[in-house]
Amino acid sequence: MNPPAPDVPDVAAEARTPTHHVAIFDTSLRDGEQSPGCSMTASQKLRFAHALAELGVDTIEAGFPASSGAEIDATRAIAREVRGSTLAALARCHSGDIEACAQALDGAARPRIHVFISTSPLHREHKLGLSREQVLERAVMGVELARRYVDDVEFSAEDALRTEPEFLAQVCSAALAAGARTLNIPDTVGYTTPSEIRALFEYLRGHVVGAERAIFSAHCHNDLGLAVANSLAAIEGGARQVECTINGIGERAGNCAMEELVMALRVRGAYYNAHTRIDARRLVPTSRLLSRITGMAVQRNKAIVGQNAFAHESGIHQHGMLKHRGTYEIMNPEDVGWSQSQMVLGRHSGRAALADRLQTLGFVVDEARLNAVFASFKSLAEKKREVFDADLEALVLGADARA
Ligand code: KIV
Ligand code: ZN
Repeated sequence: MNPPAPDVPDVAAEARTPTHHVAIFDTSLRDGEQSPGCSMTASQKLRFAHALAELGVDTIEAGFPASSGAEIDATRAIAREVRGSTLAALARCHSGDIEACAQALDGAARPRIHVFISTSPLHREHKLGLSREQVLERAVMGVELARRYVDDVEFSAEDALRTEPEFLAQVCSAALAAGARTLNIPDTVGYTTPSEIRALFEYLRGHVVGAERAIFSAHCHNDLGLAVANSLAAIEGGARQVECTINGIGERAGNCAMEELVMALRVRGAYYNAHTRIDARRLVPTSRLLSRITGMAVQRNKAIVGQNAFAHESGIHQHGMLKHRGTYEIMNPEDVGWSQSQMVLGRHSGRAALADRLQTLGFVVDEARLNAVFASFKSLAEKKREVFDADLEALVLGADARA
């Protein structure tokens, strides 16, 4: 099929519009890798880190070095080889964790230490057994220690979305004063909603002391299927970094899916007044690489990178697509790395799509021949989920023999 060029979206025009840059912080190798079914060897992590750099991510979170010697080795190998992105490593606000990060990041062109501590009442009481004051002290200690090793320090308030907003603002202000550049606000358990997270970012920008020099970051989990929507709402509230993963891998139901967020900003860039530096044509190849490495396939109907994302089977949709692909597609498959849209021939397909495919296969189809083939196509499609090109060739030859 060679459908007419679409008139939506004018990606080049979007790119010309002055917009806010939203930095993409990829955590596939840390939050993603620590989820069931996604663990990777050091060489797989290295290979994937190269792919992330080629994709154009601003920051790659390579791992959590304190968790194992293998994690230190993998982070160190990435730090030595991968160029083009900032390289982050995660640490609790413990001196051992922070020192392990500093060791592992040695050799990175642009190292970042990412320190975190839980701030919500539930985590303070049941996980840490610490008071607000103690959490505040540890956050400051963590940031200050990390700053002895690197200039670029990110602070995360774990379970931020279930933290008292005024305490969250207090911890963020202290982390900023201690030398953090990026303040990450994780929705650790995927609990928030778009309007709530947008309001929280607006509140923090108004209440964190020194907010104008901070980069606010969103880190949304997908427990309610809202991670992408919540990340977009955080951008509306002023987030200028989004933490995400390829294919949305991550703890439990995963993290914000990078391919979805990037394409939402690309297709609706004017609405969000924001853009990323991601080379979107590498999204599908990078998604496939991750699936091959982890053995975890994406579902067929996954937005952007699923097999059905640009596939059309129903007669009405196929007919519309043949006239103008903008009727049923809001972006070009080529722009995200697919070769083309797919017209799937099955029992929902109509005569127009069949005629188009027969023509592509080199058959001259007059009305009588098309009628004959269409009847046998329909009866085959009742028995089979999908009718392939080889099936069609057999049908045409059979119809010709009968004529
Ligand atoms: O979900 C979370 O809170 C995290 C932090 C460690 C950033 O992954
Ligand atoms: Zn997380």
